[in-house]
Amino acid sequence: MRTTLTVIKADIGAVGGHLRPSEAVVERVREHVEREGEGLVLDAHVSYTGDDIAILMSHARGAGDPDVHRLAWEAFRAGTEVAKAQGLYGAGQDLLRDAFAGNVRGLGPAVAELEFDERPNEPFLLFVADKTEPGSYNLPLYLAFADPMHCPGLMLSPNMAKGFSFVIMDVNHTEGDRVVELNAPEDLYDIAALLRDTHRFVVEKIYSRTTGEPCVAVSTTRLHNIAGKYVGKDDPVMLVRVQSQFPATGEVIAPFALAHYVSGDLRGSHNVALMPVPSNTPVAYFDGPSLVSCLAFCVHEGKLTEPVDVFAHPFWDTIRQKAADKTLEMRRQGFVGPAMVGFEELEYGGITERLKKLDERFVVREPQPQPQPQPETTP
Ligand code: F6R
Ligand code: MG
Ligand code: MG
Repeated sequence: MRTTLTVIKADIGAVGGHLRPSEAVVERVREHVEREGEGLVLDAHVSYTGDDIAILMSHARGAGDPDVHRLAWEAFRAGTEVAKAQGLYGAGQDLLRDAFAGNVRGLGPAVAELEFDERPNEPFLLFVADKTEPGSYNLPLYLAFADPMHCPGLMLSPNMAKGFSFVIMDVNHTEGDRVVELNAPEDLYDIAALLRDTHRFVVEKIYSRTTGEPCVAVSTTRLHNIAGKYVGKDDPVMLVRVQSQFPATGEVIAPFALAHYVSGDLRGSHNVALMPVPSNTPVAYFDGPSLVSCLAFCVHEGKLTEPVDVFAHPFWDTIRQKAADKTLEMRRQGFVGPAMVGFEELEYGGITERLKKLDERFVVREPQPQPQPQPETTP
């Protein structure tokens, strides 16, 4: 069967600041998807991570299907009504347009989709991250799909011997999708040269070079490019097919044990360690820390199994401790140097106005007269 997995996520309001959606909002979104999705999608799962609600849908209608996108859009609209009625903070904040235009792309919600011929056993992972940006997946994807130190399958499994191709998007280019396709392992240094810049170059898709099949899809939305102003971080979702001709679940999640530093904590402006957490975890410290959850499913003829909450395992307690330690260490440094994102990424306008005013107060010193060399005198 040709199956499509579509995950669409949005922040439509949260309790107590930007912490997590209320139970009533999540319930309203879930109800809407269940009721209105009848006969349209084959299965669905609704969860939250931090203040973002993710709607995962499996169906047979292909990527970018207007009715599937509309289902999620309308579910978020219904949830927003509840969020407004409850007075939640930032109610409807990611729904940037009033009218639905056939696809949620460009309207605010983030979307990732994979369309494929279902294998007899089709395991996949859903990642949802909060208080961070799509480029946060760059390093884990590089390590899982191009580095045998993290993915021994690259050298051990004949099914992966040819490596993977990376489609990388320049997310600063707003006039259209500007992408490049690079092959691992031959183009490894070129891939690394792009992926180091997590604000600009983002892995959008990964394909198996052995079978040509897609295995990774990442949402690449840049909210401030859509809205023209700061409206929150881009909190990315990702789908990854795993096992057999793709890396094993263990190989895909292994790089998250690094708890690498990412951008997007408090006011979208700070760099902290990405903490792997169970699904349905709120944020807490410093409006963060930046979080990522991972649910593992199998899909069969479009039906989803119950998920395994991967980062709920006790192993990840150690990593959470490490992430908290790394975050606290960085936070000790306040606003200086690598603790805060660079000027272009500071999406709150305050600092721009401040610097503009200060600019007028700068003076350029008149060049000081240089001391003239004295003629030598003989004693
Ligand atoms: C939201 C986020 C938060 C907010 C901060 C201020 O995703 O990252 O850190 O930026 O709480 O929010 P406002 O400006 O809405 O008061
Ligand atoms: Mg938010
Ligand atoms: Mg969020």
